[in-house]
Amino acid sequence: MKIMGKGYGYGKVILFNEHFVVYGVPAIASAIDKKTIAEVKKSDRDIIHDDRDATPGYKEEKFHQQIESIKRIKEKMGVKDSFEIRLHGDLKATSGVGASAASCVAIGRAIADELKMKLSDEEINEIAYEGEKAYHGNPSGIDNACSTFGGLIWFVKGREIEKMKVSKPVEIVMGDTGITTDTKRAVEGVKQRREIYRERYDEIFEEANKIAYEAKKALIQEDWNKVGMLMNKNHELLRQIEVSCDELDMLVEIARKNGAIGAKMTGSGLGGYMVALTPGSQEKVARAIEAEGFFALRTRIGV
Ligand code: MEV
Repeated sequence: MKIMGKGYGYGKVILFNEHFVVYGVPAIASAIDKKTIAEVKKSDRDIIHDDRDATPGYKEEKFHQQIESIKRIKEKMGVKDSFEIRLHGDLKATSGVGASAASCVAIGRAIADELKMKLSDEEINEIAYEGEKAYHGNPSGIDNACSTFGGLIWFVKGREIEKMKVSKPVEIVMGDTGITTDTKRAVEGVKQRREIYRERYDEIFEEANKIAYEAKKALIQEDWNKVGMLMNKNHELLRQIEVSCDELDMLVEIARKNGAIGAKMTGSGLGGYMVALTPGSQEKVARAIEAEGFFALRTRIGV
């Protein structure tokens, strides 16, 4: 007998143009083969059992945002009931892998399942977007799109979500700085600096725009050397808008020195994760990161 509603959401990696995406520059991201699973059952009050493996401090830091997020999800779904919610799965709760989006998507799907609501992926995506606002303030929507639809996507805020296909998944390594990022703070910082250094930022944003179109072409052609080279360039632009940090730059260096064909920070930055493109060098890169005492996630894009 079925006793509870169940739902899942994928983790994600942004390959091109986090932050720039908030201002309408196209971005490219992929779901990864790690998921958050939510199980819910009706209860007399909302109770959360967060059993996800997590970076120390992550759950505590995000706790109030998580409560707010569940409230928003229920409001968007027009649901008045309370739920006992259990979160688990193989996606670590940490900054930079879309953990908040994955939990919003999983919870939305699980509540729909529990209440026997038939919702499309598009509806789930919109519900998760509302939940994400509690974590991000004004999210672009790229994280919840990856988390809902899976696969590799071309994303333009409020305008386009296009699924891209590659013939087979490609290995990547994600290196964790162990630093939890406040996405709102990272996004706000870019906004403030963009207002002060408008001309210079316009040039950087234009460069990011060009990279997106070149990267789309390279990905479609499966020209991985070109994709890697463009990831390196993208990291440089992210450094220029000051969302990288010493730990991320160091992880990028380690990855490149050990055979990655491209590496960059991914997600909000100021901590969180680095992503390295590693067809054929995944184990070597992952071990080099671990040898320096960091956590390395071996996963794939285009799944
Ligand atoms: C966070 O994963 C990605 C950012 O671009 C914010 C957003 O797109 O909402 C930093």
